[in-house]
Amino acid sequence: MAEEAILSYLEKGHEISDSGQFASERGIDHNEIVNVIKSLHGFRYVDAEDIKRETWVLTDEGKAYAAKGSPEVQLFLAIPPEGISKEELQKKLEPTAFKIACAQAAKNKWVEMGKQLISRKVEKVEDRVKDLLLKIQEGQVIGSEDIKALKGRKLIVPQTWKGYSVKKGPNYAPRRKKVVTDLTRDNFQSGEWKELEFKEYNYTAKGQPLEGGHLHPLLKVRYQLKKIFLCMGFEEMPTNNFVESSFWNFDALFQPQQHPARDSHDTFFLQAPSTTKELPEDYVQRVKDIHESGGYGSRGYVYDWKREEANKNLLRTHTTAVSSRMLYQLAQKPFSPKKYFSIDRVFRNEAVDRTHLAEFHQIEGLVCDRGLTLCDLIGVLHDFFSRLGMNKLKFKPAYNPYTEPSMEIFSYHEGFKKWVEVGNSGMFRPEMLRPMGLPEDVQVIAWGLSLER
Ligand code: PHE
Repeated sequence: MAEEAILSYLEKGHEISDSGQFASERGIDHNEIVNVIKSLHGFRYVDAEDIKRETWVLTDEGKAYAAKGSPEVQLFLAIPPEGISKEELQKKLEPTAFKIACAQAAKNKWVEMGKQLISRKVEKVEDRVKDLLLKIQEGQVIGSEDIKALKGRKLIVPQTWKGYSVKKGPNYAPRRKKVVTDLTRDNFQSGEWKELEFKEYNYTAKGQPLEGGHLHPLLKVRYQLKKIFLCMGFEEMPTNNFVESSFWNFDALFQPQQHPARDSHDTFFLQAPSTTKELPEDYVQRVKDIHESGGYGSRGYVYDWKREEANKNLLRTHTTAVSSRMLYQLAQKPFSPKKYFSIDRVFRNEAVDRTHLAEFHQIEGLVCDRGLTLCDLIGVLHDFFSRLGMNKLKFKPAYNPYTEPSMEIFSYHEGFKKWVEVGNSGMFRPEMLRPMGLPEDVQVIAWGLSLER
Protein backbone atom coordinates (compact mmCIF):
# COMPACT_ATOMS: atom_id res chain seq x y z
CA MET A 1 0.00 0.00 0.00
CA ALA A 2 2.84 2.40 0.88
CA GLU A 3 4.64 1.51 -2.35
CA GLU A 4 1.55 2.04 -4.44
CA ALA A 5 0.89 5.38 -2.73
CA ILE A 6 4.38 6.64 -3.48
CA LEU A 7 4.62 5.45 -7.07
CA SER A 8 1.17 6.68 -8.09
CA TYR A 9 1.75 10.04 -6.40
CA LEU A 10 4.96 10.48 -8.40
CA GLU A 11 3.21 9.33 -11.58
CA LYS A 12 0.98 12.41 -11.44
CA GLY A 13 4.11 14.52 -11.70
CA HIS A 14 4.29 15.42 -8.02
CA GLU A 15 7.29 15.23 -5.81
CA ILE A 16 7.23 14.21 -2.19
CA SER A 17 8.90 17.02 -0.29
CA ASP A 18 8.59 15.44 3.11
CA SER A 19 8.01 11.76 3.72
CA GLY A 20 6.75 12.46 7.23
CA GLN A 21 4.02 14.75 6.04
CA PHE A 22 3.22 12.35 3.19
CA ALA A 23 2.83 9.52 5.67
CA SER A 24 0.64 11.38 8.14
CA GLU A 25 -1.63 12.76 5.41
CA ARG A 26 -2.33 9.20 4.27
CA GLY A 27 -2.44 7.64 7.69
CA ILE A 28 0.48 5.34 6.87
CA ASP A 29 3.17 4.59 9.39
CA HIS A 30 6.26 6.64 8.58
CA ASN A 31 8.60 3.67 9.17
CA GLU A 32 6.78 1.73 6.51
CA ILE A 33 7.09 4.63 4.06
CA VAL A 34 10.82 4.89 4.82
CA ASN A 35 11.39 1.19 4.15
CA VAL A 36 9.62 1.38 0.82
CA ILE A 37 11.54 4.52 -0.18
CA LYS A 38 14.85 2.81 0.61
CA SER A 39 13.95 -0.22 -1.44
CA LEU A 40 12.66 1.81 -4.41
CA HIS A 41 15.77 3.96 -4.22
CA GLY A 42 17.97 0.85 -4.31
CA PHE A 43 16.42 -0.13 -7.65
CA ARG A 44 16.54 3.50 -8.82
CA TYR A 45 12.78 3.74 -9.20
CA VAL A 46 13.04 6.90 -7.15
CA ASP A 47 15.69 9.37 -6.13
CA ALA A 48 15.54 10.11 -2.45
CA GLU A 49 17.30 12.74 -0.41
CA ASP A 50 17.69 12.78 3.35
CA ILE A 51 15.92 15.41 5.33
CA LYS A 52 16.48 16.02 8.99
CA ARG A 53 14.38 18.03 11.34
CA GLU A 54 14.62 18.99 14.96
CA THR A 55 11.34 18.05 16.53
CA TRP A 56 10.05 17.96 20.05
CA VAL A 57 8.69 15.06 21.96
CA LEU A 58 6.92 15.01 25.31
CA THR A 59 8.68 13.84 28.44
CA ASP A 60 6.81 11.52 30.81
CA GLU A 61 5.72 14.55 32.78
CA GLY A 62 4.63 16.27 29.57
CA LYS A 63 2.62 13.21 28.55
CA ALA A 64 0.90 13.13 31.93
CA TYR A 65 -0.17 16.80 31.60
CA ALA A 66 -1.31 16.26 28.01
CA ALA A 67 -3.64 13.58 29.34
CA LYS A 68 -4.82 15.04 32.67
CA GLY A 69 -4.30 18.75 32.19
CA SER A 70 -1.61 20.99 33.63
CA PRO A 71 -1.22 21.06 37.44
CA GLU A 72 -2.05 24.76 37.61
CA VAL A 73 -5.41 24.14 35.95
CA GLN A 74 -6.00 21.13 38.18
CA LEU A 75 -5.31 23.41 41.15
CA PHE A 76 -7.59 26.16 39.87
CA LEU A 77 -10.44 23.73 39.37
CA ALA A 78 -9.95 22.35 42.87
CA ILE A 79 -10.60 25.77 44.44
CA PRO A 80 -14.30 26.27 45.27
CA PRO A 81 -15.82 29.76 44.69
CA GLU A 82 -15.75 30.50 48.45
CA GLY A 83 -12.04 29.69 48.70
CA ILE A 84 -10.21 26.91 50.52
CA SER A 85 -7.50 26.52 53.15
CA LYS A 86 -4.03 25.54 52.00
CA GLU A 87 -4.18 22.27 53.92
CA GLU A 88 -7.49 21.27 52.34
CA LEU A 89 -6.31 22.18 48.88
CA GLN A 90 -3.09 20.26 49.35
CA LYS A 91 -5.08 17.10 49.96
CA LYS A 92 -6.76 17.40 46.58
CA LEU A 93 -3.58 17.37 44.52
CA GLU A 94 -0.60 15.11 44.20
CA PRO A 95 2.22 16.31 46.46
CA THR A 96 4.72 16.88 43.61
CA ALA A 97 2.21 18.69 41.46
CA PHE A 98 1.04 21.00 44.25
CA LYS A 99 4.18 23.18 44.48
CA ILE A 100 4.44 23.63 40.75
CA ALA A 101 0.73 24.31 40.48
CA CYS A 102 0.87 27.04 43.14
CA ALA A 103 3.84 28.73 41.50
CA GLN A 104 2.33 28.65 38.00
CA ALA A 105 -1.17 29.68 39.12
CA ALA A 106 0.25 32.62 41.06
CA LYS A 107 2.39 33.63 38.12
CA ASN A 108 -0.66 33.57 35.86
CA LYS A 109 -2.52 35.67 38.46
CA TRP A 110 -5.28 33.05 38.61
CA VAL A 111 -5.38 32.70 42.38
CA GLU A 112 -5.08 34.82 45.49
CA MET A 113 -2.78 33.25 48.05
CA GLY A 114 -4.31 34.71 51.21
CA LYS A 115 -3.00 33.99 54.71
CA GLN A 116 -6.04 31.86 55.59
CA LEU A 117 -7.71 31.17 52.31
CA ILE A 118 -6.72 30.50 48.77
CA SER A 119 -9.32 31.83 46.35
CA ARG A 120 -9.90 32.27 42.63
CA LYS A 121 -9.03 35.61 41.08
CA VAL A 122 -10.60 34.94 37.68
CA GLU A 123 -13.76 33.15 36.69
CA LYS A 124 -12.34 30.66 34.29
CA VAL A 125 -8.99 29.66 32.83
CA GLU A 126 -7.74 28.05 29.67
CA ASP A 127 -5.26 25.15 29.76
CA ARG A 128 -2.76 26.44 27.24
CA VAL A 129 -0.05 24.12 28.43
CA LYS A 130 -2.20 21.08 27.77
CA ASP A 131 -3.22 22.41 24.36
CA LEU A 132 0.37 23.06 23.35
CA LEU A 133 1.47 19.62 24.49
CA LEU A 134 -1.29 18.00 22.49
CA LYS A 135 -0.27 19.94 19.41
CA ILE A 136 3.31 18.76 19.77
CA GLN A 137 2.10 15.22 20.24
CA GLU A 138 0.29 15.48 16.92
CA GLY A 139 3.41 16.78 15.20
CA GLN A 140 2.18 20.35 14.76
CA VAL A 141 4.55 23.27 14.84
CA ILE A 142 4.29 25.78 17.69
CA GLY A 143 5.92 29.13 18.35
CA SER A 144 9.43 29.44 19.68
CA GLU A 145 8.38 31.27 22.85
CA ASP A 146 6.07 28.44 23.79
CA ILE A 147 8.78 25.90 23.00
CA LYS A 148 11.14 27.75 25.31
CA ALA A 149 8.61 27.75 28.13
CA LEU A 150 7.75 24.04 27.80
CA LYS A 151 11.41 23.12 27.50
CA GLY A 152 12.14 25.20 30.63
CA ARG A 153 9.52 23.15 32.52
CA LYS A 154 11.12 19.94 31.16
CA LEU A 155 7.84 18.91 29.52
CA ILE A 156 9.44 18.45 26.10
CA VAL A 157 12.87 17.38 24.77
CA PRO A 158 14.37 17.78 21.30
CA GLN A 159 14.61 14.82 18.92
CA THR A 160 16.09 14.59 15.42
CA TRP A 161 13.56 13.38 12.95
CA LYS A 162 14.78 11.72 9.76
CA GLY A 163 12.86 11.42 6.56
CA TYR A 164 13.19 11.81 2.82
CA SER A 165 12.25 13.98 -0.06
CA VAL A 166 11.45 11.82 -3.07
CA LYS A 167 11.21 12.23 -6.83
CA LYS A 168 11.18 9.94 -9.86
CA GLY A 169 14.39 8.01 -10.45
CA PRO A 170 15.96 6.86 -13.75
CA ASN A 171 14.17 3.49 -13.58
CA TYR A 172 10.85 4.97 -12.54
CA ALA A 173 7.75 2.96 -13.43
CA PRO A 174 4.26 3.29 -11.95
CA ARG A 175 4.48 -0.35 -10.88
CA ARG A 176 7.51 -2.30 -9.80
CA LYS A 177 8.46 -4.88 -12.40
CA LYS A 178 9.00 -8.36 -11.17
CA VAL A 179 12.51 -9.30 -12.19
CA VAL A 180 13.02 -12.93 -13.06
CA THR A 181 15.69 -15.00 -11.37
CA ASP A 182 15.27 -18.27 -13.24
CA LEU A 183 14.68 -19.02 -16.88
CA THR A 184 12.18 -21.83 -17.14
CA ARG A 185 11.08 -24.26 -19.81
CA ASP A 186 7.73 -22.45 -19.93
CA ASN A 187 9.49 -19.13 -20.61
CA PHE A 188 11.07 -20.69 -23.68
CA GLN A 189 7.96 -22.42 -24.94
CA SER A 190 5.76 -19.34 -24.67
CA GLY A 191 8.41 -17.07 -26.18
CA GLU A 192 7.99 -14.95 -23.07
CA TRP A 193 11.75 -14.98 -22.46
CA LYS A 194 12.19 -12.16 -25.01
CA GLU A 195 10.30 -9.68 -22.84
CA LEU A 196 11.42 -10.88 -19.45
CA GLU A 197 13.63 -8.70 -17.35
CA PHE A 198 16.22 -10.66 -15.43
CA LYS A 199 17.62 -9.97 -12.05
CA GLU A 200 21.23 -8.93 -12.29
CA TYR A 201 23.93 -11.12 -10.89
CA ASN A 202 25.49 -9.94 -7.70
CA TYR A 203 29.10 -10.81 -8.27
CA THR A 204 30.17 -9.55 -4.89
CA ALA A 205 27.72 -11.70 -2.92
CA LYS A 206 29.41 -14.13 -0.63
CA GLY A 207 28.59 -17.79 -1.19
CA GLN A 208 26.99 -19.97 1.41
CA PRO A 209 29.56 -21.06 3.96
CA LEU A 210 30.45 -24.69 3.35
CA GLU A 211 29.04 -27.05 5.90
CA GLY A 212 31.36 -29.94 5.14
CA GLY A 213 34.94 -30.24 4.02
CA HIS A 214 37.59 -31.48 6.34
CA LEU A 215 41.19 -32.50 6.04
CA HIS A 216 41.52 -36.22 5.58
CA PRO A 217 42.70 -37.76 8.87
CA LEU A 218 45.79 -39.16 7.08
CA LEU A 219 46.66 -35.72 5.74
CA LYS A 220 46.37 -34.28 9.23
CA VAL A 221 48.73 -36.86 10.70
CA ARG A 222 51.05 -36.42 7.74
CA TYR A 223 51.19 -32.68 8.38
CA GLN A 224 51.80 -33.25 12.07
CA LEU A 225 54.70 -35.62 11.35
CA LYS A 226 56.19 -33.31 8.77
CA LYS A 227 56.16 -30.53 11.34
CA ILE A 228 57.87 -32.76 13.89
CA PHE A 229 60.64 -33.63 11.43
CA LEU A 230 61.09 -30.00 10.43
CA CYS A 231 61.24 -28.94 14.09
CA MET A 232 63.96 -31.56 14.62
CA GLY A 233 65.98 -30.09 11.74
CA PHE A 234 65.30 -32.78 9.13
CA GLU A 235 65.13 -32.04 5.38
CA GLU A 236 62.49 -33.68 3.21
CA MET A 237 63.70 -36.12 0.55
CA PRO A 238 62.18 -35.98 -2.95
CA THR A 239 59.83 -38.95 -3.07
CA ASN A 240 58.02 -38.06 -6.27
CA ASN A 241 58.66 -41.34 -8.10
CA PHE A 242 56.56 -44.39 -7.44
CA VAL A 243 58.42 -46.35 -10.08
CA GLU A 244 61.86 -47.44 -9.03
CA SER A 245 64.43 -49.89 -10.30
CA SER A 246 65.14 -53.04 -8.34
CA PHE A 247 68.66 -51.73 -8.07
CA TRP A 248 67.78 -48.77 -5.83
CA ASN A 249 64.93 -50.54 -4.09
CA PHE A 250 66.90 -53.72 -3.22
CA ASP A 251 70.46 -54.16 -4.55
CA ALA A 252 71.84 -50.87 -3.30
CA LEU A 253 70.37 -51.86 0.08
CA PHE A 254 72.36 -55.09 0.09
CA GLN A 255 69.20 -57.13 -0.28
CA PRO A 256 70.17 -60.43 -2.00
CA GLN A 257 68.52 -61.19 -5.32
CA GLN A 258 66.95 -64.42 -4.01
CA HIS A 259 65.33 -62.60 -1.09
CA PRO A 260 61.63 -63.55 -0.87
CA ALA A 261 60.60 -59.88 -0.82
CA ARG A 262 61.91 -59.65 -4.39
CA ASP A 263 59.38 -62.23 -5.52
CA SER A 264 56.44 -61.05 -7.62
CA HIS A 265 54.18 -62.30 -4.81
CA ASP A 266 55.42 -59.44 -2.69
CA THR A 267 56.40 -56.84 -5.26
CA PHE A 268 54.64 -55.24 -8.22
CA PHE A 269 56.95 -55.37 -11.25
CA LEU A 270 56.30 -53.15 -14.26
CA GLN A 271 55.46 -54.58 -17.66
CA ALA A 272 56.24 -51.40 -19.54
CA PRO A 273 58.81 -50.02 -19.23
CA SER A 274 60.01 -53.20 -17.65
CA THR A 275 63.61 -52.13 -17.10
CA THR A 276 65.50 -49.05 -16.03
CA LYS A 277 67.47 -47.06 -18.60
CA GLU A 278 70.51 -46.09 -16.66
CA LEU A 279 72.37 -46.73 -13.45
CA PRO A 280 75.71 -45.33 -12.26
CA GLU A 281 77.97 -48.01 -13.73
CA ASP A 282 80.97 -47.85 -11.41
CA TYR A 283 78.66 -47.95 -8.39
CA VAL A 284 76.72 -50.87 -9.89
CA GLN A 285 80.05 -52.70 -10.16
CA ARG A 286 80.85 -52.07 -6.48
CA VAL A 287 77.36 -53.26 -5.46
CA LYS A 288 77.82 -56.42 -7.59
CA ASP A 289 81.17 -57.03 -5.90
CA ILE A 290 79.86 -56.67 -2.38
CA HIS A 291 76.94 -59.02 -3.09
CA GLU A 292 79.16 -61.63 -4.77
CA SER A 293 82.34 -61.56 -2.77
CA GLY A 294 81.96 -59.05 0.06
CA GLY A 295 84.50 -56.49 1.22
CA TYR A 296 85.02 -54.06 4.11
CA GLY A 297 85.17 -57.04 6.45
CA SER A 298 82.05 -58.72 5.00
CA ARG A 299 81.92 -62.07 3.21
CA GLY A 300 79.06 -61.01 0.96
CA TYR A 301 76.33 -63.42 -0.13
CA VAL A 302 78.53 -65.55 -2.38
CA TYR A 303 76.22 -65.91 -5.41
CA ASP A 304 76.12 -64.77 -9.04
CA TRP A 305 74.70 -61.26 -9.01
CA LYS A 306 72.64 -60.62 -12.13
CA ARG A 307 72.35 -57.21 -13.75
CA GLU A 308 68.98 -58.13 -15.39
CA GLU A 309 67.50 -58.61 -11.94
CA ALA A 310 68.72 -55.17 -10.84
CA ASN A 311 67.36 -53.52 -13.99
CA LYS A 312 63.76 -54.61 -13.36
CA ASN A 313 61.35 -51.77 -12.74
CA LEU A 314 58.90 -52.01 -9.85
CA LEU A 315 56.60 -49.93 -7.71
CA ARG A 316 58.79 -49.06 -4.77
CA THR A 317 58.16 -51.33 -1.81
CA HIS A 318 59.60 -48.93 0.74
CA THR A 319 60.79 -45.32 0.87
CA THR A 320 64.21 -46.63 1.85
CA ALA A 321 64.72 -46.78 -1.95
CA VAL A 322 64.71 -42.98 -1.88
CA SER A 323 67.06 -42.98 1.09
CA SER A 324 69.56 -45.12 -0.80
CA ARG A 325 69.51 -42.71 -3.77
CA MET A 326 69.97 -39.73 -1.44
CA LEU A 327 72.85 -41.32 0.45
CA TYR A 328 74.56 -42.24 -2.83
CA GLN A 329 74.25 -38.61 -3.96
CA LEU A 330 75.57 -37.42 -0.62
CA ALA A 331 78.59 -39.68 -1.02
CA GLN A 332 79.49 -38.05 -4.34
CA LYS A 333 80.34 -34.75 -2.57
CA PRO A 334 82.75 -33.95 0.25
CA PHE A 335 80.99 -35.33 3.33
CA SER A 336 78.65 -33.20 5.42
CA PRO A 337 76.26 -34.54 8.08
CA LYS A 338 72.57 -34.73 7.09
CA LYS A 339 69.18 -35.38 8.59
CA TYR A 340 66.60 -36.51 6.05
CA PHE A 341 62.96 -37.57 6.18
CA SER A 342 60.25 -38.67 3.80
CA ILE A 343 56.55 -39.41 4.01
CA ASP A 344 55.10 -41.03 0.93
CA ARG A 345 53.37 -43.94 -0.70
CA VAL A 346 54.77 -47.44 -1.16
CA PHE A 347 53.29 -50.56 -2.77
CA ARG A 348 53.25 -54.21 -1.83
CA ASN A 349 51.58 -57.05 -3.64
CA GLU A 350 49.60 -58.19 -0.64
CA ALA A 351 46.19 -59.75 -0.24
CA VAL A 352 43.84 -56.89 0.58
CA ASP A 353 41.86 -57.27 3.77
CA ARG A 354 40.42 -55.14 6.58
CA THR A 355 43.82 -53.96 7.74
CA HIS A 356 45.93 -54.34 4.59
CA LEU A 357 45.96 -52.50 1.30
CA ALA A 358 48.32 -52.94 -1.62
CA GLU A 359 49.53 -49.43 -0.97
CA PHE A 360 50.25 -47.43 2.14
CA HIS A 361 52.40 -44.56 3.34
CA GLN A 362 55.76 -44.85 4.96
CA ILE A 363 57.43 -42.35 7.19
CA GLU A 364 61.16 -42.56 7.24
CA GLY A 365 63.86 -40.65 9.04
CA LEU A 366 67.61 -40.93 8.85
CA VAL A 367 70.64 -39.26 10.36
CA CYS A 368 73.97 -39.47 8.64
CA ASP A 369 77.04 -38.43 10.61
CA ARG A 370 80.44 -39.53 11.83
CA GLY A 371 80.65 -41.77 14.88
CA LEU A 372 76.94 -42.48 15.41
CA THR A 373 76.02 -45.41 17.65
CA LEU A 374 72.93 -47.39 18.55
CA CYS A 375 72.53 -45.06 21.55
CA ASP A 376 72.11 -42.14 19.16
CA LEU A 377 69.40 -44.08 17.36
CA ILE A 378 67.59 -44.87 20.61
CA GLY A 379 67.88 -41.22 21.66
CA VAL A 380 66.52 -39.87 18.40
CA LEU A 381 63.67 -42.38 18.49
CA HIS A 382 62.73 -41.30 22.03
CA ASP A 383 62.79 -37.67 20.93
CA PHE A 384 60.75 -38.38 17.79
CA PHE A 385 58.10 -40.61 19.34
CA SER A 386 57.66 -38.45 22.44
CA ARG A 387 56.64 -35.64 20.09
CA LEU A 388 53.87 -37.97 18.94
CA GLY A 389 52.84 -38.51 22.54
CA MET A 390 54.54 -41.90 22.88
CA ASN A 391 56.77 -41.72 25.91
CA LYS A 392 57.17 -45.40 26.81
CA LEU A 393 59.28 -47.19 24.20
CA LYS A 394 60.78 -50.65 24.09
CA PHE A 395 63.13 -52.07 21.47
CA LYS A 396 63.40 -55.60 20.23
CA PRO A 397 66.22 -57.02 18.09
CA ALA A 398 65.10 -57.57 14.50
CA TYR A 399 66.45 -58.30 11.05
CA ASN A 400 66.66 -56.15 7.91
CA PRO A 401 69.06 -56.98 5.08
CA TYR A 402 70.36 -53.39 5.13
CA THR A 403 70.64 -52.66 8.86
CA GLU A 404 72.76 -54.13 11.63
CA PRO A 405 71.85 -53.94 14.39
CA SER A 406 68.14 -53.66 13.70
CA MET A 407 65.40 -52.92 16.20
CA GLU A 408 61.64 -53.13 16.16
CA ILE A 409 60.10 -50.26 18.09
CA PHE A 410 57.25 -50.84 20.53
CA SER A 411 55.22 -48.26 22.36
CA TYR A 412 53.02 -48.86 25.39
CA HIS A 413 49.40 -48.19 24.50
CA GLU A 414 47.62 -46.84 27.58
CA GLY A 415 44.21 -47.56 26.05
CA PHE A 416 44.90 -51.14 24.99
CA LYS A 417 47.11 -51.68 28.05
CA LYS A 418 49.70 -53.43 25.95
CA TRP A 419 52.83 -52.88 23.90
CA VAL A 420 52.20 -52.12 20.24
CA GLU A 421 54.72 -52.31 17.43
CA VAL A 422 55.12 -48.83 15.96
CA GLY A 423 58.16 -49.03 13.72
CA ASN A 424 61.35 -50.58 12.49
CA SER A 425 64.85 -49.16 12.72
CA GLY A 426 68.52 -49.81 12.55
CA MET A 427 71.99 -48.71 11.53
CA PHE A 428 72.68 -49.05 7.83
CA ARG A 429 75.26 -51.73 7.10
CA PRO A 430 78.75 -50.89 5.83
CA GLU A 431 77.91 -53.23 2.91
CA MET A 432 75.36 -50.62 1.89
CA LEU A 433 77.23 -47.41 2.74
CA ARG A 434 80.81 -48.13 1.72
CA PRO A 435 80.18 -49.02 -1.96
CA MET A 436 78.39 -45.67 -2.21
CA GLY A 437 81.62 -43.99 -1.25
CA LEU A 438 80.73 -42.66 2.20
CA PRO A 439 83.78 -42.32 4.46
CA GLU A 440 84.56 -45.26 6.75
CA ASP A 441 83.68 -43.44 9.98
CA VAL A 442 80.28 -42.27 8.74
CA GLN A 443 77.26 -44.10 10.12
CA VAL A 444 73.61 -43.78 9.25
CA ILE A 445 70.86 -44.42 11.77
CA ALA A 446 67.38 -44.78 10.33
CA TRP A 447 63.82 -45.73 11.14
CA GLY A 448 60.58 -46.26 9.35
CA LEU A 449 56.94 -46.49 10.26
CA SER A 450 53.61 -46.52 8.56
CA LEU A 451 51.38 -43.46 8.41
CA GLU A 452 48.19 -45.53 8.41
CA ARG A 453 49.04 -47.13 11.73
N1 PHE B 1 62.30 -49.97 5.11
C1 PHE B 1 61.83 -50.52 6.33
C2 PHE B 1 60.43 -51.12 6.14
O1 PHE B 1 59.95 -51.11 5.05
C3 PHE B 1 61.80 -49.51 7.41
C4 PHE B 1 63.21 -49.15 7.83
C5 PHE B 1 63.69 -47.95 7.41
C6 PHE B 1 63.93 -49.97 8.64
C7 PHE B 1 64.95 -47.55 7.77
C8 PHE B 1 65.20 -49.59 9.03
C9 PHE B 1 65.70 -48.42 8.59
O2 PHE B 1 59.81 -51.59 7.08
